[in-house]
Amino acid sequence: MQIAVVGSGYVGLVAGACFADLGHDVIVVDNDQKKLSALNRGEVPIHEKFLPELLHRHRGVRLKFSDDLETAVRASSAIFVAVGTPPTEHGEADLSYVESVARGISGAINSYKVVVEKSTVPVYTSDWVRKIILRNGAEAEEFDVASNPEFLREGTAVTDFLYPDRIVVGADTPQCAAVLREIYAPLADGSYYMRPDAIPRPDRAQIPPPLIVTSAKSAELIKHASNAFLAMKISFINAVASICESVGANVQQVCQGIGTDSRIGPRFLSPGVGYGGSCFPKDLMAFRAVARECGYDFRLLDEVMRINEEQRHRFIRKVRSALWTLRGKKLGVLGLAFKGGTDDIRESPAILLIHSLLQEGCQIAAYDPAARERAQEALNSSVTMTEDAYEAAQGADALLILTEWEEFGALDLNRLKAELKYPIIIDGRNLYDPEIMAAAGFTYYSVGRPAASPEPISGRAADTRTKKGTRS
Ligand code: UDX
Repeated sequence: MQIAVVGSGYVGLVAGACFADLGHDVIVVDNDQKKLSALNRGEVPIHEKFLPELLHRHRGVRLKFSDDLETAVRASSAIFVAVGTPPTEHGEADLSYVESVARGISGAINSYKVVVEKSTVPVYTSDWVRKIILRNGAEAEEFDVASNPEFLREGTAVTDFLYPDRIVVGADTPQCAAVLREIYAPLADGSYYMRPDAIPRPDRAQIPPPLIVTSAKSAELIKHASNAFLAMKISFINAVASICESVGANVQQVCQGIGTDSRIGPRFLSPGVGYGGSCFPKDLMAFRAVARECGYDFRLLDEVMRINEEQRHRFIRKVRSALWTLRGKKLGVLGLAFKGGTDDIRESPAILLIHSLLQEGCQIAAYDPAARERAQEALNSSVTMTEDAYEAAQGADALLILTEWEEFGALDLNRLKAELKYPIIIDGRNLYDPEIMAAAGFTYYSVGRPAASPEPISGRAADTRTKKGTRS
């Protein structure tokens, strides 16, 4: 099928490349000339596993990039809208890009088209897109508006797209649902997975994935409700971790105990420095605003956001209780991205924490395997970026782990200890076993677990206990 994807951000670019891999002919439309030339030159603008392979495989053949929306719409049976929906100052999603694309599509409709919302949008957007297209001259029977939310995570976006837990198609007419079923047929009938050149199957993938057909409004709600639920799970476990710290329990054991209940499940129960990224913070605020507009006061979401923010304050308090005073302290920081496996620093807890620590007068040397350049810009060069984790630790009063990169959980502990001025690690992602860290000679603080040290811990560490569980 000929498909147009409007917007070449994370969702648009990944969806475009994956649709091409399913065998469709895809035109990705964007009005950013610099981005288009970079894509046409073969550059890959985001750090995403398997994306370079897919772009290399299909660029110029089944995957084209263009700034001509009208031609792309005329040529296509389905137009996926994957433009940005940034938050307004009141937290609602700004839908002006969606509206302007809907206007552009309207003028170009020359036969039946399915216009698909792929960006995360509030419920009722499909109604509005429909109205705008009608208002600008298209006939009602010439198009349908569908919602096909995307659940991809950054870092694993390509495999999330090709091996999804489910495909949600929000379509209000059988004709519209049929077009979307056809687009996803290679996944839903399993034929994609038989191909020798298919992108490798990740662990836990359920194939073929179920394709769920709902109304457009239900699909819009599914996306917001899913993200809000996942963020709630993270805030829930962060709250439990705080209680663990006050009573000397171990959140990891608690997680094992609750996560094995199949109704709860073990995933998204890792406590840490709070969630970040381009989706959860923005989508929670937007969902909160949508609920308010619909007359429901969704205060549970306020609490999820409050706990998330509090988690960062708790971490700063932990650093202070480990080091006593902060002014002039030299800190090594591992991790700048909002999570491991990506170079994205949007709403990154690491960046927010670094800002607070700089304000407290700390000097910071930081390392991230992918996000250094982006972080350097965001931090106005106030942080020294290093080439590896050991250099970040050099001469530091303590080392902070702020992003869950896999490599940060497999460091050479002897080398690390030799680099640090004091063997103190404050791990905001629980990457190490406290017992092992104490045995390796570190004073080790983590989230929701007793602090560990070769010596009994002294000082103001009110929320920590020694590894034997006695109050310090
Ligand atoms: C999220 C959703 O998972 C995805 O379905 C949606 O399409 C977009 O938003 P993403 O933002 O890429 O994806 O990241 P995700 O892996 O969900 O992590 C979000 C944040 O939560 C990160 O900061 C991560 O470190 C944090 N997190 C995640 C935790 O603190 N604990 C967990 O158990 C899981």
